[in-house]
Amino acid sequence: MQNPSRYLVTAALPYANGPVHIGHLAGCYLPADIYVRYLRACKKDVLFICGSDEHGVPITIRALKEGVTPQEVVDRYHPMIKESMERMGISFDIYSRTSHPVHHETAAAFFKKLHDDGYFEVKETEQYFDEKAGVFLADRYITGTCPVCGYEKAYGDQCEKCGSSLSPEQLIQPRSALSDAIPVKRKTKHWYFPLQRFEGWLKEWILEGHKEWKNNVYGQCKSWLENGLQSRAMTRDSHWGVKVPLPEAEGKVLYVWFDAPIGYISATKELTPRWQDYWCDNDTRLIHFIGKDNIVFHCIIFPSMLKAHGGFVLPDNVPANEFLNIEGDKVSTSRNWAVWVHEYLNDFPDAQDIMRYVLCANAPETKDNDFTWKDFQDRNNNELVAILGNFINRTWVLMHKLCSGKVPRLHENLLDDDDRWIMDEIKSAPQKVSNCIEQFKFRDALFEVMELARKGNQYMQKKEPWIKARQTDPDGKITAEAQQDIDNALHLCLQLTANLAILIHPFLPFTAKKMLHMMKVVDRMLFWENAGKLNLLSTGYSLRAPELLFRKIEDEEIQKQIEKLKAGLVPAEEKNASQLPDENAKAEISFQDFEKLDLRIGTVLTCEKVKNVDKLLKLEVDLGHEKRVIVSGIAQHYSPEELVGRQVVIVANLAPRKIKGIESKGMILTAEDANGNLHLLQPDQFTEPGSAVK
Ligand code: 2FM
Ligand code: ZN
Repeated sequence: MQNPSRYLVTAALPYANGPVHIGHLAGCYLPADIYVRYLRACKKDVLFICGSDEHGVPITIRALKEGVTPQEVVDRYHPMIKESMERMGISFDIYSRTSHPVHHETAAAFFKKLHDDGYFEVKETEQYFDEKAGVFLADRYITGTCPVCGYEKAYGDQCEKCGSSLSPEQLIQPRSALSDAIPVKRKTKHWYFPLQRFEGWLKEWILEGHKEWKNNVYGQCKSWLENGLQSRAMTRDSHWGVKVPLPEAEGKVLYVWFDAPIGYISATKELTPRWQDYWCDNDTRLIHFIGKDNIVFHCIIFPSMLKAHGGFVLPDNVPANEFLNIEGDKVSTSRNWAVWVHEYLNDFPDAQDIMRYVLCANAPETKDNDFTWKDFQDRNNNELVAILGNFINRTWVLMHKLCSGKVPRLHENLLDDDDRWIMDEIKSAPQKVSNCIEQFKFRDALFEVMELARKGNQYMQKKEPWIKARQTDPDGKITAEAQQDIDNALHLCLQLTANLAILIHPFLPFTAKKMLHMMKVVDRMLFWENAGKLNLLSTGYSLRAPELLFRKIEDEEIQKQIEKLKAGLVPAEEKNASQLPDENAKAEISFQDFEKLDLRIGTVLTCEKVKNVDKLLKLEVDLGHEKRVIVSGIAQHYSPEELVGRQVVIVANLAPRKIKGIESKGMILTAEDANGNLHLLQPDQFTEPGSAVK
């Protein structure tokens, strides 16, 4: 969409069931903030919307675990999240919450309209029910083995291991997440939204109309649409959430993924009476910033809801990031393997920009990435301090020493090739940065800004004003000729600094503010239209003393953080040993039960990746008396080449299952370590294929 009249930027509403960690920031809040700050600098009409997602299972499970009410949970975490975001400089125009009455009204009215327009199919089906806890087990209330990859702790709505979207009925050996009870089936009635009716439209809208979406987003949409859409229940049996606005729906609330995205609309309503200008006028560019686990909801389900309702704009782009791991390991809130934003801010007060810098320079834009404290230190010391801070500091110190603390004049007749080179670099930098930002390539954009600072250092090094200052008259005064050279060099370095303030501002707003203070200029200078100009600071204008923009981070500080991370980790063994039950423990079985398993040694004959699925491999295995095709979810742990010729242990009498259209006859055994890595089991020496494992 070229030149829309206005922008509406949303960032995924975080669940108010815990504090935010740096993975959340890197995933969507920081890129969204950079984008919005850039748009504001371009004088665009933009609203930046977010708030807490306070409904759904994540909240009620947390409440049950802590023995408090869901209201208490959200009342604790909503302000905490809001404060962390504010302190990190995430500049929402509103940070609302879905428990707000405006949201309840808006979401209920949205549902009612779809209902009145005849969109919902009402179905009575048998669903899993926990007799101990007295609740129906939808979504994350139920866990079991994933039918696609065999992961044993898949949820009733999704397998976090292989990413498959699931329904509770698909889980093998389901258990209640609340009481561990084996669930029973009970009849219940729900309102289903027929996603399949939107399939044709979605294919055209996304697959034809939005080829520019990021590969990870487009690819996920494509695979969803190719696999076919089905009706999805938009109501739940619960008392926590937005009540279904129908008399016959007592005890039912809206499905959290029905109400949460409507939260973007309600928050806008709360913010401004002009909310319809943003939501209902086709000249709005709507952009949803999210993490990769939210793609289907923002690209398929919410747009279908908006389309069915009518009158709303649709997202023009959904730039989703992948995940940020910490020190080589997946973030896990239950294991406390995370860098919590509020703790970071306590340990490094006023160092918001360092974290913003590191998270953007290393953002998981195209693949999962790793945050390490060492990289944090290196990027701070070698980039922020040594490149950006150093350039500005040298400029300021020299300007005070050699130009009486004032912007020296530019002697145009004396410009040389180096001067012209840096002038061209200053002029061309803004376009490079905006091109990247507009394509949601924030890492590249930040790199371009730092390139300009690097060039500033190179320029300073070539001009060496401190050497020129040695050319003095017999009375010790710098010669007129040398002073003119010095003036030119420092004049351009000062204009470069002013440009750096504009360009770095979307990324490092706190630093840009300090730079404005040093330059004694007002915020207005930060408008993007000023970037590339060479007259931002007037000749003769006196400037303040240099301020410390960045400080070196010492090894001990980093060591402390690494130790803190490790000390806070709740290890799997500790969980077993303490009062917490081993999550993997299963009920005792008899020897006869064990004997029912037909375990055999097999040799892998061929192996290939399953098309369009990252996690699956298709193997042909020699079992002595026969050859079997087996689909296994180990593609991220082993390459096909590593497996051919290898011996494995097979569950040979597992009922065949169709996985991605391939009939899989059996299962390959692996051991899973605490980090989620899978290790194949194999005999310690070659064993005849088909040999029984006992
Ligand atoms: O994944 C999550 O954290 C969800 N709470 C995101 C919701 S985004 C939107 F739809 F509200
Ligand atoms: Zn799975």
